[in-house]
Amino acid sequence: MNLFYDDQHQVFKLDTPHTSYLMALADGKWLGHVYYGPRLEGTDVAWALALGTRPFTPEVLPNEQASFFDCYPQEYPAANAGDFREACLGVRTEAGQRDCLPAYVGHAFLPGKPALEGLPATSGGPEDCNTLQITLEDCRTGVRAELCYTAFTHLDIIARSARVINAGSGPLWLDRALSACLSLPYEGQRLLTLQGSWAREGQMQLAEIGHGEQGVFSTRGISSHQAQPFLALTSPDVTQERGEVWGMHLVYSGSFLARVQRDQHDGLRAVIGIHPQDFCWRLEPGEAFQVPEAVLVHSGEGLGRMTRTLHDLYRGHLIREPYRQRPVLINNWEATYFDFDEARLLKIARQAAALGVELFVLDDGWFGERHTDSGSLGDWEVNRRKLPHGLDGLAEEIKALGMQFGLWMEPEMVSPDSELYRRHPDWAIQTASRLPLRCRDQYVLDLGRPEVEEYVWAQISNILHSADITYLKWDMNRPLTDLGSAALPPDRQGEVAHRYLLALYRLQRRLVETFPHLLLENCCSGGGRFDPGMLAYSPQIWASDDTDAVERLSIQEGTAMLYPLSCIGAHVSDCPNHLVGRNTPFDTRAAVAMAGTFGYELDVTRIPEEERRQIPGQIARYRAQHALLQRGDYYRLASARDGGLDAWMVAEKDGSRALVTLVRVLCRPNRRRRLVRLHGLDPAGCYEDVATGRRYGGDALMQIGLPVDLPEADFQARQVELRRVEVK
Ligand code: DGJ
Repeated sequence: MNLFYDDQHQVFKLDTPHTSYLMALADGKWLGHVYYGPRLEGTDVAWALALGTRPFTPEVLPNEQASFFDCYPQEYPAANAGDFREACLGVRTEAGQRDCLPAYVGHAFLPGKPALEGLPATSGGPEDCNTLQITLEDCRTGVRAELCYTAFTHLDIIARSARVINAGSGPLWLDRALSACLSLPYEGQRLLTLQGSWAREGQMQLAEIGHGEQGVFSTRGISSHQAQPFLALTSPDVTQERGEVWGMHLVYSGSFLARVQRDQHDGLRAVIGIHPQDFCWRLEPGEAFQVPEAVLVHSGEGLGRMTRTLHDLYRGHLIREPYRQRPVLINNWEATYFDFDEARLLKIARQAAALGVELFVLDDGWFGERHTDSGSLGDWEVNRRKLPHGLDGLAEEIKALGMQFGLWMEPEMVSPDSELYRRHPDWAIQTASRLPLRCRDQYVLDLGRPEVEEYVWAQISNILHSADITYLKWDMNRPLTDLGSAALPPDRQGEVAHRYLLALYRLQRRLVETFPHLLLENCCSGGGRFDPGMLAYSPQIWASDDTDAVERLSIQEGTAMLYPLSCIGAHVSDCPNHLVGRNTPFDTRAAVAMAGTFGYELDVTRIPEEERRQIPGQIARYRAQHALLQRGDYYRLASARDGGLDAWMVAEKDGSRALVTLVRVLCRPNRRRRLVRLHGLDPAGCYEDVATGRRYGGDALMQIGLPVDLPEADFQARQVELRRVEVK
C-alpha cells in the first residue's frame, strides 16, 4: 500500500513513485494540508502545520478560533466559517443560511479506485492505485463530505474528488462544491494557464502571482475556448527540464473555476472545480452530490515531466482504446461547407480513396433544410435532394471505394427554424420571461429533461443504425446562456447546467457502449470542450477550427502540454488558409498535422497536382510513425513563441527510435546555425537518421543537439526519423 495513517501524529501520507502528499489533523478534528512535493519517507510532520501565524491552534488560544481558521491550510474549506479565502464547500440550510463547519470523523483505505457516479474519471485497479477516503461531518446540519484521494503507484498522480451527502433531516442547498484545494507557501511561484478564444485555443500563459486572486474560469456551460480547466504553479525558473510544477486538471466539461490566491501571510491556495456561479443543488435527506475529479500532478523535472505524466495517465487510465489504429480521414467541411450533393462528395471520395485516405467524413449540411448554419438542427432526416440515395446509399458507395464512412451531428442543439422547435419550444434551455439568446442561430436543448435526453438518443441511434457509419463527429457550437428549465421547480433552477452535463455524459457513455466499434470525435466549434471529461468518451477531439499550420503551432503546443498527441484532432487544409489567408508549404501542413490525429480537410480534386502527388507519401509516413506517435514520450524542444523555431519529438519509451519535427516560422538572414538538443534517447546508443543514413551518438544528440538545417525560406518543416542501430 502506498497510503499510510500515522495514528500517533495523526498524519495521512500518500506516496507515488516520486512524490508524497501529506495531511494532518489539528485538535483531532481539522484536516489540514501539510505538504505536496518530492517524496518523503517519514510521517512525523504534523509540526509543520504549527509554523503559521499565531495564534494557530484552537487549544492554544480558545478564544481565537477565527484566527485559526483564517490561517489554517484546510484541505476542504467551507464558506462562512472564518476561513476568508476561496472555499470548496458552501451549504445553505432551510433557514437560508450558509451553515457548515465539517470536522474529521473517520477514514478508510480502499484498494484501486472507485468509479464516480455519473461522472467521467480516471480509473485503476489495485495494481495501479489505492484510495484514501476521509470523512468530514458537520454534526449540526448533517452535512457529510467524503474526500477521496487516489494515489497511483506507477505515476506521480493524486486524483481527488468528493461526495457531499445530506445526512441530516431537512433539505440542504449546495451552492459551492469544488474538487480540490492545495496549499503551498509562496516562494516566487508562477501561475501557468492555457487561455485563448475561438480559433486561438490553448495559448500558454505564465504569470507572476501577486497578492489577491488570479486564474482562469468558464461560465459558458462548456469548458470553453477561452480557458482550459487547468492551472499549474511552477517554480520561478521553470523550463521544460527543470523546476518544480504542481498541476491541477479538472475532469469536467462545464463551467469551472481554477484560481490561486496569494494571501496576507504569503500563503498560496489553489482551488479547482465547478464554477459556483449558476450552480446550486438541492439535496434531500439521504441524497449525495458527486463532485467531479481533479487530477493533481507534481513534477520535480520541469514542465516536460508533468506533460509525460499526464499523457501516461490519460492514455492508460482515462481514454478508451487509446491505441486502436486511427484511420487517416478526409472531411468535407473546408472543402465544400454546405455546398455539396452526392456527386460532389463522391468525386472527392474517389480521388481521396485513390490517394490512400481511409475514412470519408461527411460534415454539416446533410439533413433537413440545412443550407446555411441557421436551421434544421434537431430534425435529423437526410436531405434527399442532396443525397438521393440517403446516408446508406452514400455509405455503400464510399465503402465500395475501400473507405470507411463517418458522419457529423450536433445532437445537443435545436434551431428555432426546425420541426423539433415548433413541436417543443419549451425543450430549449430558457428563462421564464424571454426567448434565449440566439448564437449561431440555435438554442441549446434542455438535456437534463429525461424526455429530451431520450429524444436525442433516439435521433443518434436511428442515424447510426441507418447506415454503415464507423465514425461520428459530435459537434457543439454555442455556449449555454439563459439558464432555466421549464421542468424544474424554482429552487432547482441552479441545477440546469450540471444536469445538462450529466445527461451529456450519459448519452456519450450509452453511445460508446451501444456502438463499441464507433470512433467518436468530440468537437465544440474546435476546442471549446477539449477537456479530460470529454476525453473519457472520445479518444480524439477536434482541437481548433483554425487549420493554418502556423497558428496550429501554439494551439497544439499548449494542447499537447496536457494531452497526448493521439487525441488532438489535426488536419491538412487548403491554402490560402480560409481563416488567416496564409500560404504554407503542403509538407509543412502535413508535418504539423502529424502532431495530432492526421487527416485532410480540403477538396482533393481541386488542389494543385504537385500537392496531390505528395499525399500517398504523407500517409505512408504517418502510418509508419503512427504507433510511435500514439504511445511514445513527447518532448517539447523549442517553441515558436521564443523566436521562430518550433520543435518537438516523440521517443519510444525504450529509446529505440524517435521522430523529431522542426518547423521554422519566419526566416531571418545571417543567423548562427541552430542545433536543438534531443531527449529520451539512449546516451550510449548510436542513432541513424533514416532518410540520410547519417549517424549520431545518443549522448551527442542530447548534449550538443541535432542540426536544424531547414531550407532558407519561411514556414519550412523537416521531420527526422532516428533509429538506434547496432554498431559493429
Ligand atoms: C464547427 C466545427 O468545429 C467545424 O469543424 C465544422 O464541423 C462546423 N462546426 C460545421 O458546422
